[in-house]
Amino acid sequence: MIKKAVIPAAGMGTRFLPFAKAQPKEMLPIVDQPVIQYVVEEAVAAGITDILMIIGKGKRAIEEHFDRNFELEAGLAEKGRVEDLQAVRRISDLADIHFVWQKELNGLGDAVRHARHHVNNEPFLLLLGDTLIQSEDSLCRRLIEVYERYGESVVALEPVAEDKVGLYGVIRGRAIGEDLHLIEDLVEKPEAGEAPSNLAIASRYVLSPRIFDYLELTPRGKSNEIQLTDALRLMLRDVAIYGVTLNGRRHDIGNKLDFLKTNIVYGLERENLGPDLRSFIEDLVRE
Ligand code: UTP
Repeated sequence: MIKKAVIPAAGMGTRFLPFAKAQPKEMLPIVDQPVIQYVVEEAVAAGITDILMIIGKGKRAIEEHFDRNFELEAGLAEKGRVEDLQAVRRISDLADIHFVWQKELNGLGDAVRHARHHVNNEPFLLLLGDTLIQSEDSLCRRLIEVYERYGESVVALEPVAEDKVGLYGVIRGRAIGEDLHLIEDLVEKPEAGEAPSNLAIASRYVLSPRIFDYLELTPRGKSNEIQLTDALRLMLRDVAIYGVTLNGRRHDIGNKLDFLKTNIVYGLERENLGPDLRSFIEDLVRE
C-alpha cells in the first residue's frame, strides 16, 4: 500500500509575478482555499496518510496554513462560528505533514531528491503543488493501482494541443489498455516539431524509490535545472515505466490565465456561489 506522498512547492513562481515575490504561488486561493490544500486533499482521498512538502525561502505561509492556530480557533469558538471552526481545524488533521527545505532551486528533479530520506525506500505518490486535477475517477488511485499491479513507476498523461507540447515533458508510448501506455521515451519541453506525441506528463506520478539513484546521475538539462523527466528517461533504460491518461481536467495554477479560469470553474461548482457567479458572467458576456 502506498501511504506516502511528496509535494514539491519550493519553486520561484516567476510566471506569477509580482504576486509570487514574497508569497508562495501554492497559496493562491481557488475560491477560498489555497491550491496546496486541494492537492493535499486529493492525496488523502487516494489513501495517503503521510505527506512531505518540499519548500524553500518565502514559503513559511505553507507551514502556517497546515499548523494549528489556537488563537483563531478560540476566537471562532467564542463567537459560535462552528462551521468555520471545523473547517480551520480540519486542515491540520488532514494528514501527517512534514517539511524539508530545498535551499537552492535547481529544478523539480532536484526538489524530488530532497525526499529520499523521508520516503525511505518506499514507492510514493508525487503531486506538483501548483496544479489541480479534476477527474471522473480518482487519478491518484488509478496511478497507485497500476503501480501495485506492475511494480514500476507510473506517470499521469494528458493530451495537449500541438502548440502547447513544448511547455511540458512529453512521452512516446504504446497503448496497452484503455487508459494505459507503456512508455518508450520521454522528452522535457521538446522543440517545435520534435515532440514524440501530444501526451504530456500531467503533474501526478507514482515513483519507485529507484528514481533517487537516477536523479543522482541526472545532469542539468532544460533551463539549466535537474529535470525529473530526464531522470525518468535514464531509468527507462533499465526498467519499464507506465502512463495513465487523465480522464478529466488539469489546472496549472502557476500561470495566470489558468488561475483565473480555475477560480471560475470551482466557483461555479459551489452551491452558495455558483448561481450568482453564473448570472454575473452571463451579464458580462451580454454587455
Ligand atoms: P514549476 O516549473 O511550475 O515551478 O514547478 P516554478 O519554477 O516555481 O515556476 P516558474 O516557471 O518560475 O513560474 C512545478 C512544481 O515544482 C515545484 C514548484 O514549487 C511547483 O509546485 N518546484 C519547482 C520545486 O519545488 N523546486 C524547484 O526547483 C522547481
